[in-house]
Amino acid sequence: MHSSNLLKKLHITRLSNHNTETNKPEPGTMDYYQQPQPTVHEQPVQQQAPTQQQQQQQAAIQNNLTSEAIQRSLLPQRSTVSRGKYSLTDFHIMRTLGTGSFGRVHLVRSVHNGRYYAIKVLKKQQVVKMKQVEHTNDERRMLKLVEHPFLIRMWGTFQDSKNLFMVMDYIEGGELFSLLRKSQRFPNPVAKFYAAEVTLALEYLHSHDIIYRDLKPENILLDRNGHIKITDFGFAKEVSTVTWTLCGTPDYIAPEVITTKPYNKSVDWWSLGVLIFEMLAGYTPFYDSTPMKTYEKILSGKIHYPSFFSPDVIDLLENLITADLTRRLGNLINGPADIRNHRWFSEVVWEKLLAKDIETPYEPPITAGVGDSSLFDHYPEDQLDYGSVGEDVYAHYFLEF
Ligand SMILES: Nc1ncnc2c1ncn2[C@@H]1O[C@H](COP(=O)(O)OP(=O)(O)OP(=O)(O)O)[C@@H](O)[C@H]1O
Ligand SMILES: [Mg+2]
Repeated sequence: MHSSNLLKKLHITRLSNHNTETNKPEPGTMDYYQQPQPTVHEQPVQQQAPTQQQQQQQAAIQNNLTSEAIQRSLLPQRSTVSRGKYSLTDFHIMRTLGTGSFGRVHLVRSVHNGRYYAIKVLKKQQVVKMKQVEHTNDERRMLKLVEHPFLIRMWGTFQDSKNLFMVMDYIEGGELFSLLRKSQRFPNPVAKFYAAEVTLALEYLHSHDIIYRDLKPENILLDRNGHIKITDFGFAKEVSTVTWTLCGTPDYIAPEVITTKPYNKSVDWWSLGVLIFEMLAGYTPFYDSTPMKTYEKILSGKIHYPSFFSPDVIDLLENLITADLTRRLGNLINGPADIRNHRWFSEVVWEKLLAKDIETPYEPPITAGVGDSSLFDHYPEDQLDYGSVGEDVYAHYFLEF
């Protein structure tokens, strides 16, 4: 019932965005797409190419304008102090929304205010066994620091003798992953919308020297209006220069991460390229049957672009999914402004997008009202050991929780 609703809704979305490879705005997307400026993006660049100096000037102006707007959303205080200490008795634990390597995420309801939240539960033993203590402490710290319209908000954490708990806002619209699989692939404007919101979120993180390192459709949730919320800061890390750890998800990992070279924030821009490719094609560019084969493909650097990809998006992707760090957009002198100013994004009004002052391409059918979880897949429920007291041999690893 619910998935057929979703499909129906999606069908409408896809129909209304049908035949959009020309980048022409459809009636429903006018808020999001500015009227095309003929001299800038309707003509091939070769014919009207501005001088390099003009380009640089324009980029500097654009850069400043948008950076200001982005700065306004920056978190003023970078404190890791808890906003309030919770405990298990504050919540009714409900169904599982997602599972991962160290635990699961539950829908929960506050016994105090009746509101719904999501709680990520990590098993201390698993975290320690898989040598993820530092990543888990980083996840908590990063989540406490960030505040941005397209990033998940965490309210607090607590622990028992066996588990760690992170209380977050519950995002009802499900994973971008589910939407993408159900629709197979997104029309150009839909992919562009999600990519643009992701770009702003990554730019914000990078401006705080945070690398995200796990961009993929499973970690991008849709709120009830259809805006994105990036969740899962399991690999997020504060890094002002370079780092070495091999982590991420095979299809999305940059070549310099695989070869364990020192790498920087620009691994996230590589992943953004892979995400855009996957949204438009319906599959990832280096997909193969095993991670090893995928890594080989990533290192070979060969990408086949489907014939329906527009020249603009191919140009963008060639400059994101490139091993050459002196060419990768986001890693150059203008930073992320080079991505925002790329032709493929030319209709995006970034300030409006940041203010959510736009119409989203798809509104999740949240038919059962608040607390509806029909857009999430079902997982076998576990025997819960939450609230365990008793000896805690791992206590010293997780003092901040
Ligand atoms: N705040 C939230 N609201 C709704 N659903 C969520 C929320 N956070 C996570 N989920 C769901 O739970 C799934 C798993 O969460 P998350 O990605 O944080 O954990 P994980 O993938 O297990 O983490 P890790 O990669 O560290 O193992 C998500 O893909 C999403 O479906
Ligand atoms: Mg995840």
